[in-house]
Amino acid sequence: MTRNIVDVEWRSHAHRLAGELEQAGKLTDPRLAAAVQATPRHRFTPTVYRRQSNGRWACQVSVDDLDTVYSNTTLITALTDTEETVLSSSTQPGLMTRMIEALRLTDGARVLEIGTGTGYNAALLCHLLGEQAVFTVDVEPALVHDARQRLAQLGHHPLVVAADGAAGLAEHAPFDAILATCAVPAVPWAWVEQTTPGGVILTDLKVAVNAGSLVRLTRTDVDRAEGRFDPTYAAFMDLRHSPGATRRSRRIHRDHDDAEHRTTCVDPTTPSTSLLVWFLAALELGRDIAHGYTLPPDAGPGYDGPPSAAFLTTPDGSWAEVTLAAEPNGEHVVVEGGPRRVWRVVEHAHHTWARLGRPGWNRFGLTVTPDTHTLWLDRPDSPHTWQIPVSPYPSE
Ligand SMILES: C[S@@+](CC[C@H](N)C(=O)[O-])C[C@H]1O[C@@H](n2cnc3c(N)ncnc32)[C@H](O)[C@@H]1O
Repeated sequence: MTRNIVDVEWRSHAHRLAGELEQAGKLTDPRLAAAVQATPRHRFTPTVYRRQSNGRWACQVSVDDLDTVYSNTTLITALTDTEETVLSSSTQPGLMTRMIEALRLTDGARVLEIGTGTGYNAALLCHLLGEQAVFTVDVEPALVHDARQRLAQLGHHPLVVAADGAAGLAEHAPFDAILATCAVPAVPWAWVEQTTPGGVILTDLKVAVNAGSLVRLTRTDVDRAEGRFDPTYAAFMDLRHSPGATRRSRRIHRDHDDAEHRTTCVDPTTPSTSLLVWFLAALELGRDIAHGYTLPPDAGPGYDGPPSAAFLTTPDGSWAEVTLAAEPNGEHVVVEGGPRRVWRVVEHAHHTWARLGRPGWNRFGLTVTPDTHTLWLDRPDSPHTWQIPVSPYPSE
């Protein structure tokens, strides 16, 4: 497609996208709808990556596929140098609009975005609030450079900074809202300090892989921010404290000869399918849990069949494997080793969640103080609370 045709065609695609988001209930504010209609997403995603069947990433020019670019899809937009790991993406537009609306911004509000990425979301914010009200930070200097240029080409000049967003942006604080498009294991206290009284922090809180979701906090006092989780699960990539760095979990040796065997009634896919149970379990298991699936013991190098078991490991050397196929009585075989019985923790979390009436995300809330993160059910003074371990951020 030539540049001239694209420059005309994208507008009808952007209008269609706004309409689809409205119909899906992900966009209700007409001013934000106008921002979606006026923002050329393809200019923020000039190349996108797709995973191929061999596991490698293939690069594609985004204007070749305006239907996909203007759909409610996450687009992978940057990889690490080795092209193995995702460094950045353009979030689903419907999640962005939902999050911007959840901030309930009033005229004149100043917003700090943590995770500039492509700059698309910053462009929506500039359209909505004016460029002087938008501040955005990304840990990757190259992404910041590109985003700043793309925004400028469209006439937007927000402050775009290359830095570890965990520290916020003290020199431009306070903000009426801080919106993080990356996940944190705990809310950095700097974000609370840099939010105006009554201001909002919206972030993905993940205490471990898959374990947590979007939480909207209001700064209710000098030393307190409090609020509820969003009803709908969402997941962002983890916040990294330095460019390019990704966390790798330590490989734990699973010695079946020295292990305990038993059976379980709890679904082996719980860590990926029953996310609230997994959240409660992760609070006890700790941050660096690894979870995945293993192939049958006799699977050769060419095996392309399904996995046979789910595994769970923690850095102290504890592990569990649970067979995916059920026994005739409906139970699954568990093999566990190491100092802790980690599948017992998942079973316990399952019973707790069932005993509490199988609550959804919106029944959970969070109170953040300088030293504590307290998760609660239904209300802050609930009899059901959990402490989320908080370790200081390197930049604090
Ligand atoms: C899902 S992408 C953001 C999408 C973006 N808002 C957009 O509109 O394209 C998450 C971004 O968070 C960034 N990130 C990770 N750690 C960060 C940190 N410590 N500070 C700021 N940004 C960070 C990543 O580099 C990545 O670009």
